[in-house]
Amino acid sequence: MDTTMNAAPAYDFTAIDSEIEARVDDLLTRMTLEEKVGQMNQVSPNWDAREELEAAIRSGQVGSVLNVWEVAKINEMQRIAVEESRLGIPLIVGTDVIHGYRTIFPIPLAESCTWDPDLLEQAARAAADEAAAGGTDWIFAPMVDVARDPRWGRIAEGAGEDPFLGRALAVARVRGFQATDLAGGKRIVACPKHYVAYGLAEGGKDYNTVDLSERALRDVYLPPFKAALDAGAGSIMSSFNEIAGVPASANAFILRQILRDEWDWPGVVLSDYDAIGELIQHGVAADHKEAALKAVLAGEDIDMMSQAFPDHLADLVREGKVPEALVDEAVRRVLRLKFMLGIFENPYTDPALQADVLLQPAYRELALRVAQKSAVLLKNEGSLLPLAPETKVALIGPLVDDQPELLGSWACDGKPEEVETVLAGFKALLGPKAALTVVKGCAIEGRDGADDDPELDIEGAVKAARAADVAVLVLGESAMMSGEAHSRAYLGLPGKQQALLEAVVATGKPVVVVVIAGRPLVLGWMAQHVPAILMAWQGGIRSGRAVADILYGEVNPSGRLTASFPRTEGQIPVYYAHKSTGRPVNERGVIQFNRAHKVKYLDESDLPLYGFGYGLTYTTFEYADLAVETPEVPIDGIVTVSVTVRNTGERAGDEVVQLYVQDLIGEVTRPVRELKGFCKISLQPGESRRVTLNVPASELGFHGLAMSYIVEPGEFKIWVGPNAYEGLEGRFVLEA
Ligand code: BGC
Repeated sequence: MDTTMNAAPAYDFTAIDSEIEARVDDLLTRMTLEEKVGQMNQVSPNWDAREELEAAIRSGQVGSVLNVWEVAKINEMQRIAVEESRLGIPLIVGTDVIHGYRTIFPIPLAESCTWDPDLLEQAARAAADEAAAGGTDWIFAPMVDVARDPRWGRIAEGAGEDPFLGRALAVARVRGFQATDLAGGKRIVACPKHYVAYGLAEGGKDYNTVDLSERALRDVYLPPFKAALDAGAGSIMSSFNEIAGVPASANAFILRQILRDEWDWPGVVLSDYDAIGELIQHGVAADHKEAALKAVLAGEDIDMMSQAFPDHLADLVREGKVPEALVDEAVRRVLRLKFMLGIFENPYTDPALQADVLLQPAYRELALRVAQKSAVLLKNEGSLLPLAPETKVALIGPLVDDQPELLGSWACDGKPEEVETVLAGFKALLGPKAALTVVKGCAIEGRDGADDDPELDIEGAVKAARAADVAVLVLGESAMMSGEAHSRAYLGLPGKQQALLEAVVATGKPVVVVVIAGRPLVLGWMAQHVPAILMAWQGGIRSGRAVADILYGEVNPSGRLTASFPRTEGQIPVYYAHKSTGRPVNERGVIQFNRAHKVKYLDESDLPLYGFGYGLTYTTFEYADLAVETPEVPIDGIVTVSVTVRNTGERAGDEVVQLYVQDLIGEVTRPVRELKGFCKISLQPGESRRVTLNVPASELGFHGLAMSYIVEPGEFKIWVGPNAYEGLEGRFVLEA
């Protein structure tokens, strides 16, 4: 997983420097207990109580702040900390830069569909550059939670269902955020979150209970975090959820045993927003004081916003319940981070930086490139797409010209007025004389639920479709239907959009649907009745232009899904790397009462509608001549396979060549397929390329019976192909 090509080096915030340690030692000896606790307190500044805020900073009760956008305010807070507090310790400014700071990129789930770590490293670096110019030191991202439940609104923020791809993209994003060439010479530290297994919330409801085996934790949910920390991330954010009965904020197993004892990681652990206080609602602490006690003993270094640490930690130390050495350890990590960030030397941000850095043409261009590459063509029957420029198009739907919704749920400092909608993209591409009719047709969601929609105009939409050659519908979710605390039980088109779609399809005109959403939707009817579907996600400020470029063939779509699209909500969770079970669906099953008893639904397929790795282009690729170059591989060796990929169509295009394995017999059960390699290639029409992929045998292990990571000798199947369900098959043996 080499993501270092063509990129500025990244800071390693995990490298201990003896000079910094000496400065930390010196400061620690001079700090009062209250000042130490202050470093463990993070607040969202309340500007309505400005005097109180300033007094808290002046007296050293605040160590860091979050989500402040104005440079003047940041500098003023910093001035009070540096010039007016007793020890002059600067604040760290943390911000949720989830997919861009001002230049808003596609949501991370969309970005992951590029399967392009280098591109995402550039996008993360651009976001960090803008954030640095805005005074940010600390980015609360990447979100590296593996997510297999599209009901969960935060699936939007991550890299989808797979830990291997998740690792590669986590590394890329950390490297981008922590790049060494950011505006004003500033440094930024990344904060992989939410540690851990947050994406496994029961029923897909945000914050809900998580209960999983330690094996699944270690094999599926931890690896992207480990990869992010190995890439030099200097902080981590613990999650809201409980794990097997112990909320993350009070979970010494994940915060101390795994992070410190097993991984020997020296960075800062930050709680999520109010999560320490929420130990009370979880029912493991009677009050804030007990919550503070449990959290600090478990290994939280910073309390984001619950006030439990600032209100109670000093007392807990004085009462002998918390050893001061534990507080010192936490404060050491915070101070070390501050020294590494360079904010003792350069606490201020030059307000003039933003003018040149934000929304610079290169970043707008990069946002366009990422949007173009993250859209996934789900269907294109009869090559309806691309459209010819002279086609008379009816542009229909509530998302045709809606700027805010394309920003997604974490828009940071993004401005709706800077978003190019699909309509704007069409106009920019086709010019003012474009043969377009535009009808909104309905709202995204009706008022009071779907039933009352004052914008309903299905007749207008039908009329426009009839008068056009092709109807292009832009349908889907609003930005706030996904993201934090926004889970859905129904994943179809909201409001009257399905009715609108069915009415337009009934005209018999060719229909293209562009889907804008923050998650995989349930698109069964659409997949049956609509010839062309483009999944455009929430594509950021250049979204509309990217859609136009793809629909008119300026750009050949190349995105591949990273999260499965279920056929129905009842299939969830549906993901490719499931286990075989004792009665696999593809085998005969056990016949009892004349029925094959096996793992399946009576009334639905076990396959997703569109699976992991899937995506079409305007050309076709053929795979041939798979050669397992290493049919026998030493246990510390490397598996090498080659395959020929040919562009058999008439356009240049990009293919994501994917390698999957199955460990046939293990001491514990193994998934039916696991991604273990991929590469993205561009091929001209008729061009073919021999692609070689290497998998170190060390990648083929898992946590065995003794719960340690083992690589077992034995036979493996291997597939190389275009997605998790197709591909040429081979075999190899790992030798003892
Ligand atoms: C979210 C985090 C975010 C934090 C600060 C929380 O509610 O879960 O992802 O970083 O707020 O805004």
